[in-house]
Parts: sequence; C-alpha cells; structure tokens
Amino acid sequence: MKPFFRDTWVEIDLDAIRANVQAFRRHLPGQTEIMAVVKADGYGHGSVQVGREALQSGANSLAVAMLDEALVLRKAGITAPILVLGYTPLDSVAQAYEWDIALTAYHAEWVHQAARLVAEQFRQKETPLAIHVKVDTGMGRIGVQTEAELDELVAALHQSPVMQWSGIFTHFACADEEDTAHVRKQHERFQALLEGLRQNGYVLPKVHCCNTAAAMVFPEWGYDSIRLGIGLYGLYPSMYLKQREQIMLTPALTLKTKISHVKTANSPFTVSYGATYQAQAGEQIATLPIGYADGFSRLQSNRGVVLHHGRRVPIVGRVCMDQTMVSVPRGDAEVGDEVVLYGRQGQEEISLDEVASLMGTINYEVSCLLNHRLPRLYVKDGQVVEVAHSISK
Ligand SMILES: Cc1ncc(COP(=O)(O)O)c(C=O)c1O
Repeated sequence: MKPFFRDTWVEIDLDAIRANVQAFRRHLPGQTEIMAVVKADGYGHGSVQVGREALQSGANSLAVAMLDEALVLRKAGITAPILVLGYTPLDSVAQAYEWDIALTAYHAEWVHQAARLVAEQFRQKETPLAIHVKVDTGMGRIGVQTEAELDELVAALHQSPVMQWSGIFTHFACADEEDTAHVRKQHERFQALLEGLRQNGYVLPKVHCCNTAAAMVFPEWGYDSIRLGIGLYGLYPSMYLKQREQIMLTPALTLKTKISHVKTANSPFTVSYGATYQAQAGEQIATLPIGYADGFSRLQSNRGVVLHHGRRVPIVGRVCMDQTMVSVPRGDAEVGDEVVLYGRQGQEEISLDEVASLMGTINYEVSCLLNHRLPRLYVKDGQVVEVAHSISK
C-alpha cells in the first residue's frame, strides 16, 4: 500500500544532517559536546528522525522546547539525555520524571514544589530528576537575573535529595549579528555568575551557552556543550553569518510537488481568488497541489517562484488553501512534472533564506511552517529509508 496519496512531499536528506553535525564537531574544542535542538518537530524536519541521525553522527544529547516534544522522542525509543529548554508546568513534572527527561528551572519556589511532587515516585525509582538552571544574561525571556536569585535556586537544588543539579545555561539574543557588543556583554555576565558560584564553593555541572551562531563565531565559548539548532538543518542563523561562511553547511530540506493541471490560454483569463493575475493568450498556467494549509505561505502570491525543469517560474495569482498556480513561459509543462518549491533542481536553487526574505521573516519560520499535512521522505545514500506521515502512523 502507498504510505500517502498526494503528490506533494518534503524530502529530508539525513546525510546532510550527518555532515552538519560533523562540521560542528570539527569546529569545536574536543571536550565540547553537541546537544541537537529538535524542538518544533526538528524545525519542521521531523524530530525523531533528525534526533536519531544527529545522535548517530556524534551529537551527545537532544533538546526540545516542551515536555510533550520530549515524550515524542522517548516514546519513539530514543534513550539519550533530553533537556526541556522551556517552562514545565508543575502538574507535568511527575510525567517528566517518569520518562527521565531533564527540566529547566529558574525559580527556587518551583524547585521546592516540584521536589514535593516527585518525592513519592522517588522512593521507588531512587534516581534524581535532572535539572538545568537557566540564567538570563540579556535575552529577557526566562531565567534568573540576579546573584541572589541564582544562589537561592542552586541552594534549593542542593537541599533536595530528589533533584540533581545537572546543568547551567544562558541563551544569547544577538549572536548572529556583526556587532558583537551584546553577545560579549551577555557572555561576561554569564562568566561572572559562574565565578560567583565557584567562589561559593559549588562544583559546576554541565555549562552551556552557545546556539548555532555563537558556536560558529565563538567556538571557545563551547564549555561542556553547545545547543545546535538551525545549523543542524544546514541553515545559517543570519545572512551575515551565511556570507562569512565560517562553516560549510548542507541544507537538508527539499519541498516538492507534481503538476496537477495544465492549461494554455486561448484568450485572457484571470487566475485564483481576487482575480489578481490575468493570463494572456498563449500563456501556459500550471496548477500545483500545495497551498497555505500546508505551510506554503500566502505571502508568496504573485511574488514567489518555483523550479520546473531546472528553471525558475513565477507563482501567479493568490496561493489558495490547497493549490497554487504558476506561469510556465516555455509552455513545456505537463501533468505529473516534478516541481521544486524549496531546494535545488538542476543548477537552480530556491533557498529557505530567499523565501524568508520574500516573506519578511527568517529561515527558521519557513521550515517550521511546513506542517503534518505534508509527508516526509527520509533519504540516506540516495535511497528513501523512511516515510513519515500522519496517515501512515
Ligand atoms: C534556549 C535555546 N537554545 C538553543 C536554541 C537553538 O538556537 P539555533 O537554532 O539558533 O541554533 C534555541 C532556539 O531557539 C533556544 O531557544
């Protein structure tokens, strides 16, 4: 039986994931581990498949934004350490403990209450709940900001027999920018807080602060681990860092479809909702079975391009919920022809950066938008090794 029944799909090149992990491995000091960030279903690439490949390629652990994402990985059989980077509501802590998921803490009261909640389970399990402390050095999102808050939090962890202080980390706001003033200031603050803890007699657990951008520019700040997100997928955190080409990355994602209808205008006709485009006599219009409900943004209406026979052809009219029209100047389109919406075809490429720039956003959002309506084909050594789709579950 076919694993899915539509002519639109995402291809994920697992060899690219491997190459990207290895590129960072070569770039980092030997003792620095790699935590592969696979939140948001692996930035739209598939958290389980990317997580597995990253771990097999030299990554040491995985990170996600929330407990639900961590449970997807555990339930798929992944046994490596997993850290939840965001907030975990107290009523979910027992679930995290049961599944051996490390949590992030930034408030002493949360630690006291979480410890009480897992105390009963701890009597049977006897292994402590791993906690990473989050320090806000200039992101203004989550994390302790003052020495006093940090001391109180670390003391709470030390007092609790059911908790293990396993890590301390911060997150940079501007590591992808040419001006390094903010990231240096954040790093100095982080160093000062770590030094304060050492002077108070604490032996520090795993220290980590670098995202992809910081790891590229400041590999010497790798400490015990980096948290590798966007670079894992072969994408650069900013155009500035792409131009610097400090590390060569390989994009892993290609979005493909096949033409579902072709017509050549005998006389002018309008295309799609709002009749915003008029096809001229002799112009060939091809219909693609993809739309904004797949995460292919409506912002591409009358502006984006796709690749057909290795050439760029323009999107005409408005992108609909499930369908999109393109104009094929050479008139050589046929039903069933393969079209690449993101990625490479022949010598041409539509990068996620190009699409992001057109949409007024960043490449992170473009890949995260691609949702579960789209089947994912995982490719290794040129062969499809797995198909993931909600209907094939
Ligand atoms: C706390 C934290 N660490 C690491 C990352 C990975 O960042 P990047 O994808 O820029 O490497 C993220 C992603 O936003 C994050 O929120």
